[in-house]
Amino acid sequence: MSYDLVIIGGGPGGYNCAIRAGQLGLKTAIIESRGKLGGTCLNVGCIPSKALLHASEYFEAATKTFPGMGVKVSGVELDLPQMLKQKDDAVDGLTKGVEFLMKKNKVDYVKGFGRIAGKGRVEVTGPDGAKQTLETKNIVIATGSEPTPLPNIDIDEERIVSSTGALSLKQVPKKLIVVGAGVIGLELGSVWRRVGAEVTVVEFLDKITPTIDTEISTAFQKILKKQGVKFELGHKVTGIEKLHDGLQVSIEPAKGGAARTLDADVVLVAIGRRPFTKDLGLDTVGIKTDQRGFIPHNGHLKVADGIYVIGDVTTGPMLAHKAEEEGIAIAQVIAGQWGHVNYDVIPNVIYTYPEVATAGKTEEELKAAGVEYKVGKFQFMANSRARTNHETDGLVKVLEEVATKKVVGVHMVGAGVGEMIGEICVAMEFGASAEDIARTCHLLRCPEAVREAAKDGGSAVLEPRRSTGTISPLQGRVSR
Ligand code: FAD
Ligand code: NAI
Repeated sequence: MSYDLVIIGGGPGGYNCAIRAGQLGLKTAIIESRGKLGGTCLNVGCIPSKALLHASEYFEAATKTFPGMGVKVSGVELDLPQMLKQKDDAVDGLTKGVEFLMKKNKVDYVKGFGRIAGKGRVEVTGPDGAKQTLETKNIVIATGSEPTPLPNIDIDEERIVSSTGALSLKQVPKKLIVVGAGVIGLELGSVWRRVGAEVTVVEFLDKITPTIDTEISTAFQKILKKQGVKFELGHKVTGIEKLHDGLQVSIEPAKGGAARTLDADVVLVAIGRRPFTKDLGLDTVGIKTDQRGFIPHNGHLKVADGIYVIGDVTTGPMLAHKAEEEGIAIAQVIAGQWGHVNYDVIPNVIYTYPEVATAGKTEEELKAAGVEYKVGKFQFMANSRARTNHETDGLVKVLEEVATKKVVGVHMVGAGVGEMIGEICVAMEFGASAEDIARTCHLLRCPEAVREAAKDGGSAVLEPRRSTGTISPLQGRVSR
């Protein structure tokens, strides 16, 4: 069989690339080894975790928030099997939907493990062990990532789990220890805390979510602490002993010091993810991975003649929408059109309650790069609708570069901010200044808070507009 494009890996990078390639008339095949399309994201990542986050948030609201709102409920009980089932149903429906989209866009879905077997050749070993070779003009590597293991700790996916096991615990652990205060640890830690687990997070560094703007991550940690999450920052797990009736976790200060033990029923290891390139045949085409195992590209997703790479297996944030963006861009390029990914404007949301939402550079990154910037901030405590909703935790922070007057970073923690980051990304794509955001009429709560933060830091709200325009009181419009 001869193709224009063969994609190895059926996650959000791969399947979105396939759909776009099919739409553009490329003869395309997608190879997936897990038996279902959708990759980590649909099967054991974004979708099941969001299903549990959503359901557990309702449970916590019913038990803790309703009474204060004057809503009396009694007999609220956790039905864990049903909570897990509705998650599995969501996954099933969506993975089948992706398979349907392959058919609709005339993409061949080849079940099996793909291995590059030289330029323009991909060998597939099917579930029954049978091999076939696909000839192709182009190959896209979209093999994604897998959990990073903790040295000397065996993941059994029952008592010592990765994110995959933590999505399907058969009962609520009394004590859950999470290793790693990153996105997975805090999202899945939140799920199990809400339904009754006592959660302790052990983090190697001195801050949680280390890549997030420090002011936001500090505020976020305070909120999580208030909710009952315990933190052991600056600590590492050195061993886990499996006892008959639980686990004993040894921890030590990262900088050295006395060891201690913590009891747990379940330990979730969430210390990051690593690129997956095992048995991919990279050597047959002379491709080398970098020190951390990622497949680097030339800045345009190209790795070698006729070979491209997208998603978690290459550099950049490990996010489903980043993988999707790259998949679509490269399909366009292969079809002879333009591709576009703006790595400066990739939104990032942590779907806890409240959410954390960010885009662009952090204050620390701007400082390190020597960029002169202005900061605008707004606390939800000062927002009328946030107060009315009893959702006053959190803040919005807008960073504007002085030289260009462009917003280069927005960082938020607060109820509903995940829905707000889209507007920010549009504004940043269009090169908006803080003033542009501040002069835009906004609705209550999150939108209003963003506007207030932009006003706080925006240079020009108190000055004439940066171009020639002024607000016309009659039309209420800005003319430039
Ligand atoms: P993957 O989704 O990993 O897909 C790669 C696929 O390739 C896999 O299905 C694998 O089986 C297959 N494969 C690998 N090698 C071969 C081979 N040789 N032959 C055939 N098939 C192969 N991101 C977000 O943006 N938002 C979220 O809310 C979010 N939540 C997450 C929650 C969890 C618990 C986890 C673990 C991740 C989450 N992510 C989230 C990250 C997101 O899942 C990844 O960034 C995304 O799935 C990467 O897409 P990808 O296509 O690059 O790779
Ligand atoms: P992460 O990189 O977000 O966090 C890992 C944390 O573990 C870091 O804080 C790190 O300092 C810490 N750590 C590393 N080694 C350690 C050790 N030995 N002991 C203690 N702490 C240690 O990784 P995580 O949470 O595993 O998530 C992986 C990726 O999945 C993320 O990079 C994210 O991009 C993606 N993801 C995205 C989500 C979203 O967009 N909402 C949700 C879940 C995952």
